[in-house]
Amino acid sequence: MKVPFVDLSREANLLFSELINSTEQVLKSGIYINGPNVNKFENIAAEYFKVEHAISVGNGSDALTFILRTLEIKSDSEIIIPANSFIATAWAVIAAGAKPIFCDVGSDMLLDIEDFERKISPKTIAVIPVHLTGRVFEIPKIYNICQKFNIQIIEDAAQSFGAHDDKKNKTGTLGLAGAFSLHPLKNLSIYGDGGLITTNDKNIAEKSKLFRNHGLIDRDNAALWGYNSRLDELQAAYAIIKLSKIEEFTSKYIEIASFYDKYLSDLFVKPEIRKDFRDVYHNYIVRVPANLRNQIKEFLSTNGIGTAIHYPVPLHLQECSRNLDCKKGDLPNVENFANSMISLPIYPTLKNEELKYIVETANNAIKKFN
Ligand SMILES: Cc1ncc(COP(=O)(O)O)c(C=O)c1O
Repeated sequence: MKVPFVDLSREANLLFSELINSTEQVLKSGIYINGPNVNKFENIAAEYFKVEHAISVGNGSDALTFILRTLEIKSDSEIIIPANSFIATAWAVIAAGAKPIFCDVGSDMLLDIEDFERKISPKTIAVIPVHLTGRVFEIPKIYNICQKFNIQIIEDAAQSFGAHDDKKNKTGTLGLAGAFSLHPLKNLSIYGDGGLITTNDKNIAEKSKLFRNHGLIDRDNAALWGYNSRLDELQAAYAIIKLSKIEEFTSKYIEIASFYDKYLSDLFVKPEIRKDFRDVYHNYIVRVPANLRNQIKEFLSTNGIGTAIHYPVPLHLQECSRNLDCKKGDLPNVENFANSMISLPIYPTLKNEELKYIVETANNAIKKFN
């Protein structure tokens, strides 16, 4: 059996007639940018998140960048981020003119609170907890210290659309603002790039709307230097369809994660399933002894199962981070995890027989090499 790590065409086929209908409507409308679908998507997203402002943008990286650019950033400002994340988390800090300060992660692979506290300096203006793999980072655990040192909490919620904490507060609403990606691989995905900012902060909302559209306040007048980073009408129309399916698809992600949790061998280190939190398992990452990782991955591949690693090169060890004062050996968990993680297939259209096959093959692999 062949099970791809991801197969986006399955979902597109499932929603085909709705997607085609919306495509036809947009094409016939003659409005492709700044139109009714963008407004509608933003309104239903604001309702979904119960926030005052949901602002669509061109991608998740810009969503994060625009939020950060509304903060008071000086040339030596520092923003603390976990070093196990996608490169865009660090890029947004650089793009906003601040310095990323890399932080280790805990056994849940999210920002390590003790290391975060160690990394705070008089230059720290913000922290970006990343709800990596759709797992909710517990903001209350850093809230008091952030208040004390006047550190803004900006959520990188790119991977966590639909996740909520034990009080049913959704990611993207737990800090000053949240940045989502709508990239095709994300839990709420579209058929191209897109992003979303969620906030109750009027200043962030207003500035982000300017940033996304060249800084223009009307057709001819620009209030500030801005970008071209808008969600277009077609993608907004697709996002509306996808948002209507988010609860159904989220349940599928959770079901698959529960299946893995129950049937995968305990020789794998599996993510802890939390009862009151709704973690949405954008990725399902297991850990294995580092010396066996490549053999297990190869075994799965030989048996037709696609896997991935999120992420093999930590942010502080990327070549572009060479001048950021964080070297190999500085962040032990991040570095160990980079060598021991394997992401297994997880997507709503994964079939039961595929899931069983993955579990059986993965269990055989770990027993064979252990
Ligand atoms: C954790 C994280 N942050 C930021 C981004 C950036 O989003 P985008 O690719 O839409 O720019 C992504 C997604 O790729 C991500 O996974």
